[in-house]
Amino acid sequence: MNLPRSLACLNGQSMPLEDVKIPALDRGFLFGDAVYEVLRLYRGKAWLLEEHWQRLGRSLQAIGIRGIDLEVTKRRLLDTIAAGGFQEALAYLQITRGVAPRSHRFPADTRPLEFLYVQDYTDAYSALRGDGASVITHPDLRWHRCDIKSTNLLGNVLAIQAAAEAGCVEALLYAADGTLTEATHSSFFAVIESTLVATPQGSAILPGITRGFLERLASRVGVPFREQHLKRHQLTEVSELFLSGTGAEVLPVVRVDGKPVGSGLVGPVSLRMWDAYRQAVAEFIR
Ligand SMILES: Cc1ncc(COP(=O)(O)O)c(C=O)c1O
Repeated sequence: MNLPRSLACLNGQSMPLEDVKIPALDRGFLFGDAVYEVLRLYRGKAWLLEEHWQRLGRSLQAIGIRGIDLEVTKRRLLDTIAAGGFQEALAYLQITRGVAPRSHRFPADTRPLEFLYVQDYTDAYSALRGDGASVITHPDLRWHRCDIKSTNLLGNVLAIQAAAEAGCVEALLYAADGTLTEATHSSFFAVIESTLVATPQGSAILPGITRGFLERLASRVGVPFREQHLKRHQLTEVSELFLSGTGAEVLPVVRVDGKPVGSGLVGPVSLRMWDAYRQAVAEFIR
């Protein structure tokens, strides 16, 4: 396997990623009893770091993992970035409930395990941005607390695999009644009569950090935004669609299930949001 250049840190100890050993009885491994974050670095600076840290704090609290000092964890992340001299990179951070004899209930007195690594990143989406991407729709098979960024990702994995097999980059997930929730590892925005529309926040979706940033950006650049549930069949009525996420940034979608979205071309609102996003990143690294 040819992996990008990386550096890891396990419970505060810096080491090559290949040397990280996670005990077999770690609850993250056995039960998915863990939460995580993925951050993007632009020119060595962690983008939207405070927002990611707040979400991480909420995730930890939601599943009752205690004993993590998030300021210490942040320092370890920043030290790892500096030690590796990373520029364009992704940072992955996972905190599990720790290692204990296998039993479903929370163990008493277990120290959480903290694993992070930073890895060089080349934008895999840039080639798609010009002409727009294709997605499929897929049943949302996940649990009822998708607002927690937990490492239980089987529903996401099965859906993105179906998308990949269909030659698509993402899957838009829909609930049993046809209501669209989000994508497997990105949020989505639709454009209806020049207004940006996204799924109302709640337990059915992850509060995307990029989405939150784009909402604030939309208000800055004068693009109206509202939350609204969209059903799968309503995708034929939207004029534009784009994905948002730490990796995807703003990625226009021009086909869903093989059918064109709106005109089938990347639309003006998507382009405007992508431009504004790029500009915000450029200001951040200036
Ligand atoms: C299910 C899901 N929704 C949305 C997102 C986008 O979130 P963010 O903008 O914080 O990367 C992700 C990111 O991995 C995700 O896994």
